[in-house]
Amino acid sequence: MRITLRDLAAMKAAGERIPMLTAYDAPSARMAERAGVPLLLVGDSLGMVVLGHETTLAVTLDDAVRHAAAVVRGSQRALVIGDLPFLTYADESTALHSAGRLLREAGVQAVKLEGAGPMVAVIEALVTRGVPVMGHLGFTPQSSHQIGVRVQARDAAAARRLVEDALAVERAGAFALVLELVPAPLAAAVRDRLRIPIIGIGAGAGCDGQVQVWHDILGLGEDKPPRHARVFGEIGAAITAALTDYTAQVRSGAFPTEAQSSKMDDAVLREALVGL
Ligand code: KIV
Repeated sequence: MRITLRDLAAMKAAGERIPMLTAYDAPSARMAERAGVPLLLVGDSLGMVVLGHETTLAVTLDDAVRHAAAVVRGSQRALVIGDLPFLTYADESTALHSAGRLLREAGVQAVKLEGAGPMVAVIEALVTRGVPVMGHLGFTPQSSHQIGVRVQARDAAAARRLVEDALAVERAGAFALVLELVPAPLAAAVRDRLRIPIIGIGAGAGCDGQVQVWHDILGLGEDKPPRHARVFGEIGAAITAALTDYTAQVRSGAFPTEAQSSKMDDAVLREALVGL
């Protein structure tokens, strides 16, 4: 039985902090679930950390569906949330089609989309038709060309707009809200004003939960991890060391040995090779 939206609401009500992590394939979903992560986000960070693009913008709905389906197959208990890629929810009917594919084909339990303003009507359209929606405000990576990659809502007017947007997203029926790269006191103020769980990334410890990108916390990125991440295990370095060892052992002939090989009766081999 998977974690439900009701379970999530109960976690907020009980003051229980909520861990969320991105996952992009079945093995990562299995490992995260074994570690007790209740919320898995198949983020469109997929574009950068897995598919090698510069931004999230290149991720297609087909990419999102394929990777979300793998995460669903690799998990049993986690609530799986699929990110709607850039421009796949620009209006209500496009959003219904895209979310329908993520729920029906991939089997996710919810979708996430970025923004407020015109997106409020989109959230309402999805929620009233049975699609659970997680909102995403603050730094919204799909608008990075417009807003830059930086902490958002630093002045009073922008901070007020963010709180108003968060309230509008909640009123539209979102079941939770990601706040990315906003000042910690502002994120805590949003948390205090909304009933739904606020999941932060680079938004301080005052949120109801935290989300991080798989590669950032496991030392798997090419670049230095962002300031808001902590490396909990240098897995990238461990993989490189193991692969260096493998490469050296193939070159030296130390791998494989008999333990990794199958035997064959000499007579059978002689018979097979007669005349060849
Ligand atoms: O795509 C993603 O990984 C995200 C998280 C950073 C919240 O949206």
